[in-house]
Amino acid sequence: MTRVLTGIQSSGKPHLGNVLGAINPSIELSKNSKNDSLFFIADLHSLINIKDSKKRNENTLAVAASWIAMGFDHEKNYFYRQSRITEVCELAWYLNCFTPYPMLSNSHSFKDKSDNLSDINSGLFTYPVLMAADILLYDSEIVPVGKDQKQHLEITRDIAKSFNHNYGDTFIIPESRIDKNVQTIPGTDGRKMSKTYENTIDIFTDEKTLKKQIMSIVTDSKGLKDKKDPDSCNIFNIFKLIASKDDVEKMKNNYLEGGYGYGHAKNNLLSLILDLYKEERNLYDELLKNPDHLYGILEKGENKARTIAKSVLDRVKNKLGY
Ligand code: TRP
Repeated sequence: MTRVLTGIQSSGKPHLGNVLGAINPSIELSKNSKNDSLFFIADLHSLINIKDSKKRNENTLAVAASWIAMGFDHEKNYFYRQSRITEVCELAWYLNCFTPYPMLSNSHSFKDKSDNLSDINSGLFTYPVLMAADILLYDSEIVPVGKDQKQHLEITRDIAKSFNHNYGDTFIIPESRIDKNVQTIPGTDGRKMSKTYENTIDIFTDEKTLKKQIMSIVTDSKGLKDKKDPDSCNIFNIFKLIASKDDVEKMKNNYLEGGYGYGHAKNNLLSLILDLYKEERNLYDELLKNPDHLYGILEKGENKARTIAKSVLDRVKNKLGY
């Protein structure tokens, strides 16, 4: 069995970009019977930005519901909250003491925000160390992440190697898996779909909001009768990522022939999303109606994950002489 681990940012209700770019590919990987998948909600990392406990818990539930609704098999695999396996904090401390200061001051996650040092907390600075602990605590072998996390994986490997160099083989050196096929999903304004840009299509939101988001997709000002260019149109570029080949062909021809307005295209996109994600949307709503059930699912995952964490931490403490 290959142990695959990844952390999910607990930033709340996932949008279409998250679903296509991260959730679906990770769930695909977890279906491989040779893989043992550990997916966790990074609710300790989120404390760096989110101080409101109600908000943080809502986000956790939304993430849990969406991954289960999208088909993650939480019984075969491991699904848990980072914060519930407190061993990770202890390991993070040990790892801190093997992390050279410049390695963290050069990390992008810190550097990008370091213009205004008084605005950031030390949690942001040591973010990569907690991430290393997330990974090393479970003897992870493969870590699927987005391009932006590549440097964090390199830091993890460096810390693990430095520890192993001092104390003999202790940690498994993990490999990152960066899926080059994952395209950037365009948002309603054509930039990368992201909460920061407020250009998301939230597939789990209520129909009215979803409609509003889709109607806000930016287009040029061509009229109903005009012939249109599908490839430069945001509606078409989103549609083609989820529609069947036939439907993509149809929409393309409609664009090229004229007599088909952007309003038509938006309505087609809306119907497609409602149809394609019908079951997932229902399941998501059902799951969120019963938070205790969701917490119960996570607790089961946490009990399994804790067993691994404890044995790895024991190994580390033995080496350190504690
Ligand atoms: N930093 C990751 C992100 O922003 C989330 C994360 C936290 C993670 N811990 C991890 C990813 C461990 C992989 C492994 O997406």
